[in-house]
Amino acid sequence: MIDLSSDTQTKPSAPMRRAMAEAEVGDEQRRDDPTVLELERRAAEFLGQEEAVYLPTATMGNQIALAILGERGTEVIVEETAHIVIAELGGAAYHSGLQTRPLPGHHGRLAPEQIPAAVHPSDSFHQPRASILALENTHNSAGGTVWPLDELEAVVLAGREVGLAAHLDGARLANAAVALGVPAAVIAGRFDTVALCLSKGLGAPLGAVIAGSEQLMRRARVGKHRFGGAMRQAGIVAAAGLYALEHNVARLADDHARARRLAEGWATAGLSVDLERVETNFVQLDVGALGLESHRAVERLEVAGVALTTTVWPGVLRAVTHLDVTDADIDGAIALVPEALAGA
Ligand SMILES: Cc1ncc(COP(=O)(O)O)c(C=O)c1O
Repeated sequence: MIDLSSDTQTKPSAPMRRAMAEAEVGDEQRRDDPTVLELERRAAEFLGQEEAVYLPTATMGNQIALAILGERGTEVIVEETAHIVIAELGGAAYHSGLQTRPLPGHHGRLAPEQIPAAVHPSDSFHQPRASILALENTHNSAGGTVWPLDELEAVVLAGREVGLAAHLDGARLANAAVALGVPAAVIAGRFDTVALCLSKGLGAPLGAVIAGSEQLMRRARVGKHRFGGAMRQAGIVAAAGLYALEHNVARLADDHARARRLAEGWATAGLSVDLERVETNFVQLDVGALGLESHRAVERLEVAGVALTTTVWPGVLRAVTHLDVTDADIDGAIALVPEALAGA
């Protein structure tokens, strides 16, 4: 099977496994695990923040951020197809008493003028105050799209002007940084909190971090413990995260190049692909244009030996490249997918 279903499908490489096997470990919950401490130091540096806290998942990172930045009964302003809205089981409401205020985006991005327009007047007795602006970069549902730095800056500033704290869901921030050719810190450093996932394109088997000021991270550690995320000899997996930050960031450019080659190959074969949307490691394929429903198309492709997934958009499938997808896989997908969808 050529598995283009998600960059969450990466498996730890042999050298990553060696680093894990050789990791020094201690009691992470007591902040006694040297490998976790080193990962937190490196991650904070990578993200341009004072401190980072190691976590099992990026979802926990987002939820801790909302819990520490928000106030119960207030709103989180967020693009309507963001992971926080569509894939975290209402966690903002469930854990933190926050109401999400989903706004329509363009390629997953909000415009500065949408922010003050979405904030209710402060003298309103009935309407909730907004407390957080949460952005996503790269944006998963929009197709791995990247925020241009000036747009990001303008939107964060628009939020600050109306008193909003800023959180970045940077699950795939490293992809955004590589696509823009800037250090991740240039993007992440302007937020109060940022969540980064180590187990997607970066290739660790699990793990994420949240980063921010020392003061906020003190509260994040409390949140982590409350969520049941404080661990013991976690250095064994943190070693994979350290390996990922050292070895698997710059190489994301290869995944991006493969996604582009795949998209161009499919477009040349007559499939409907929005080439402009291919900014990182995602390709969105419009099978609706062939009269196919997403799930039927996924089934057909699986029979042909290629795994793609459905998206939030009816008739649109997603292919994702990552470090376990080879050039030969791309050649295979370019040949097999048009053939499998032909005659639909
Ligand atoms: C944009 C985004 N944020 C957060 C997450 C959550 O990551 P995790 O699976 O580590 O909880 C994902 C996972 O797909 C994601 O795509």
